Amino acid sequence: MCGIVGYIGEKEAYPIIIKGLQRLEYRGYDSAGVALLNGDLNVYKKKGKVSDLHAFAKGKKLSANSGIGHTRWATHGEPNDENAHPHVSQNGKLAMIHNGIIENYASIKTELLQKGYEFNSDTDSEVFLNFIEDIHTNTNVSLAEAVRLALNKVVGAYAIAIISLEEPDLMIAARKGSPLVVGLGNKEFFIASDATPIIEYTNEVVYLDDQEIAIIKDNNLTIKNIEDVEMKPYVQKVDMELESIEKGGFDHFMLKEIFEQPKSIGDCLRGRLISKEGKLHLGGIADYTNKVLNADRILIIACGTSWHAGLVAEYIFEEYCRIPVEVEYASEFRYRNPVVSEKDIVIAISQSGETADTLAAIELAKSKGATILGVCNVVGSSIARVTHAGSYTHAGPEIGVASTKAFTAQISVLTMMALMIAQKKGTLTESAFRNLLVELDSIPDKVAKCLDLNPQIEIISEKFKEAANFLYLGRGYNFPVALEGALKLKEISYIHAEGYPAAEMKHGPIALIDENMPVVFIATKDSSYEKIVSNIQEVKARKGIVIAIVTEGDDVITGMADHVIEVPHVHESLMPLIAVIPLQLLSYHIAVMRDCNVDQPRNLAKSVTVE
Ligand code: M6R
Repeated sequence: MCGIVGYIGEKEAYPIIIKGLQRLEYRGYDSAGVALLNGDLNVYKKKGKVSDLHAFAKGKKLSANSGIGHTRWATHGEPNDENAHPHVSQNGKLAMIHNGIIENYASIKTELLQKGYEFNSDTDSEVFLNFIEDIHTNTNVSLAEAVRLALNKVVGAYAIAIISLEEPDLMIAARKGSPLVVGLGNKEFFIASDATPIIEYTNEVVYLDDQEIAIIKDNNLTIKNIEDVEMKPYVQKVDMELESIEKGGFDHFMLKEIFEQPKSIGDCLRGRLISKEGKLHLGGIADYTNKVLNADRILIIACGTSWHAGLVAEYIFEEYCRIPVEVEYASEFRYRNPVVSEKDIVIAISQSGETADTLAAIELAKSKGATILGVCNVVGSSIARVTHAGSYTHAGPEIGVASTKAFTAQISVLTMMALMIAQKKGTLTESAFRNLLVELDSIPDKVAKCLDLNPQIEIISEKFKEAANFLYLGRGYNFPVALEGALKLKEISYIHAEGYPAAEMKHGPIALIDENMPVVFIATKDSSYEKIVSNIQEVKARKGIVIAIVTEGDDVITGMADHVIEVPHVHESLMPLIAVIPLQLLSYHIAVMRDCNVDQPRNLAKSVTVE
């Protein structure tokens, strides 16, 4: 949930760390800090954004060849200067940054208090650091050994980096449950929560595994696990372009990512779907297709937007593969005692591949014998590594906190999975299969046509920027789209919005309708079209304001709705890929008009690595 960066080498550390923190700010942005070794241990930290820290540090002693930095999303202790990282040990010699939660910090703190330790913050991280200092000073072991011994005692999740005033050529990093990458440069090393702060300096990285410790000393990297077994570093090449993590002329990452969708969906389909030849191949799950088609049921686990993609997949798998599907919030599933067997297939969906609840749900399902397939965007992420097999979405880095292109890429992958299984199982005729492949292949162009609606959607947004509430209604495949549209609006514009199946409206939400209530209908031409037309009439009869997403050429709803947004026709099972685009743009423009921080909405972070 927090972002961490470290540098040790011959260059100036501060500019590398600050730039890296800006790249990681999507992970948390309530406070930030740096610790620099330059004969002294200088620590600067500030409540607020990385830019506030940078302004605060201006004119201070910043020249150093080694340092660590942190951008925080608060778990223990409110966001303020004291609780910001790095923390400094009581003897003033060690500085540490930490991402994660130490669950047994209270008992460790009690022990340390009895030994006379005092604490400056409310954080578990400061306790963790002083625990390391206590072992280091009282048992006379090396700092690396003290870290290892401490890690054997703490319960919880961590990605940490530590520097020492006494050993300026040393940096120690470790992880469990929170990602950490070590970058290998020329006589220099980087550490970071993901590769984005590193890629302009080196493309050689080592992804640490859980319970591994990286010890960088005298220009050498040693990796050992917490059992003290030395591990051979597995050096990988990062395949990421610098442009993909910059705004590229757009005002916000979110807008850039919305506009990238023709390409990101195209990248996702490329090499897997050859519609002209009627071929579909998802290499990552090829060995598991027989298992899926013989499965008793498919369980989909995910959170947030990924959960909405899972709901779309439920409809698709059931329709085409005739396999029962259940879609679960990972955060609920993991705390129940769910009935799961070896004959179940679990599909875990996650953009970041680091969501703590999804990871825990996977572990639970795995322990009950299920086969786990992953649909992740971030290559090498924790979820991608713990699943038995999976397919990447290849959407490229998604930096805006509101998920957009990841959603359409997830649905694209899940649709391909379902069609591949249906063809093998024989639950879809060859001609229907081929028609759907052609339709799927047309999606990038149709999404591009939807993006041409941007100026019209901006005008509509202007009319609703002061609304206090919104209702989003859809049926069938468009119901998850309604949920997703409402979530987008809530998270970036802070307007209360609810998504509902349109037919459920009369079981409660209809009471909310009056002349002030904007109702967004996703009412494209599909098998429930007539029904949703009736729902629109019900809203109009109560003076609600209707914004309708309709299929091009629809003159029925055009005569009824207050605002109409026309999208290209596509088979109804693929409509979520199209219909969500105007909703993403609507939420984006409303948020900008309300002066909200679109890319970093309040209280949120991109990857939720806490429970
Ligand atoms: O990285 P994940 O896909 O596992 O993240 C799941 C949710 O936290 C995420 O989709 C969240 O709801 C987004 N902010 C939605 O825009």
